[in-house]
Amino acid sequence: MNRIQLFAPQFHVEECLAEIRQCLDAGWTGIGFKTNQFEEAWRKHTGLPFAYFLNSNTTGLHLVLRIFKDDLGWQDGDEVITTPLTFVSTNHAILYERLRPVFADVDETLCLDPHSIEQKITSRTRAVMFVGMAGNAGRLKDVMEICKERDLKLILDAAHMAGTYYQKKHAGHGIDCTVFSFQAVKNLPSADSGMICFRDEALDARVRMEGWLGIDKDTFLRSGTGSERGNYKWEYNVPHVGLKAHGNSVIAAICLVQLKYLEEDNKRRRKMCEIYERRLGDNKRIRFSFYMADCLPSRHLFQIRVSETCRNKLILFLNEHDIFSGVHYRVNSEYPMYRYALGTCPNAEKASREVVSLPLHLRLKDEEVVYVSEKILEFLK
Ligand SMILES: Cc1ncc(COP(=O)(O)O)c(C=O)c1O
Repeated sequence: MNRIQLFAPQFHVEECLAEIRQCLDAGWTGIGFKTNQFEEAWRKHTGLPFAYFLNSNTTGLHLVLRIFKDDLGWQDGDEVITTPLTFVSTNHAILYERLRPVFADVDETLCLDPHSIEQKITSRTRAVMFVGMAGNAGRLKDVMEICKERDLKLILDAAHMAGTYYQKKHAGHGIDCTVFSFQAVKNLPSADSGMICFRDEALDARVRMEGWLGIDKDTFLRSGTGSERGNYKWEYNVPHVGLKAHGNSVIAAICLVQLKYLEEDNKRRRKMCEIYERRLGDNKRIRFSFYMADCLPSRHLFQIRVSETCRNKLILFLNEHDIFSGVHYRVNSEYPMYRYALGTCPNAEKASREVVSLPLHLRLKDEEVVYVSEKILEFLK
């Protein structure tokens, strides 16, 4: 057997190069052109009303908090309820804006537990940040209701959710702001990029400014189109101190190609997950994350849970057999800036000691999935 990687993105190389060539031929590699085309393709694919292409999901999470804070008069130290079981981007974005991450616990879906969210709401709570772990929507419907009732903004960190369907629609519908990631190993891999999808048109207009240093016209608009092209309109206003957060045409060119294959790729991921589940499902020492019936997950990850006494040994054993697994995630409360919350989320802390992400990517063959499963069963004997 070859070495079996946890992640290994697959690109449609010739198609990507042809799409990138168009940028180079046109002499347009920046914002506009392919970024506009990809935004439109993403809107069409997901049915979401608005989409703005960014250089990463992390920047998107930062931007949405920055915009809400400014628009709604949130104060430093106001609270955002979030999960400790995530990549640090989710929670760093809250700190960037001098807001306070308040960790709620996860349930057996490894997403935020609505009951725990309710217990953490205070007079200073302004928003909930929900992470669709591995592409799972968890109990998002209940969280949407809580946010509506309590007048809280709901932000969906959909880094894992490209191609997740929830209640028969693409993830993001009915949410104040959803942020996707197209980072190198995500279900729609580029190199680094993301998409921010507001529900509200005015906020979409705002983020287009805020993501381009606060300037009210991007260079593509200013350069004009058709016969006007080249007539550079230098006059613009800068109403805000924005960030340099937008994506570029070279990366959007890759995204345009990869998007064509997203549904087919996710189907393949689901098939590999079924093989894992069939092979491992009877072993009482292994547990899987729970998925609600109304979620068709993107299957960004395939996570199993084993007892904390053997988790690290299992990872080492797999390594010795050239199988590379991962942990998504170590609870963020183990890192110095979030340590104040250690001990507040027992389920997440337990999950952090028990989870293992198994290899799942499009270069993997069925027999390799079977081989990984067999090695796990051999170790657990
Ligand atoms: C849950 C989660 N949130 C946010 C991010 C950040 O995404 P990006 O790398 O596009 O900034 C990631 C990426 O690893 C992630 O897994």
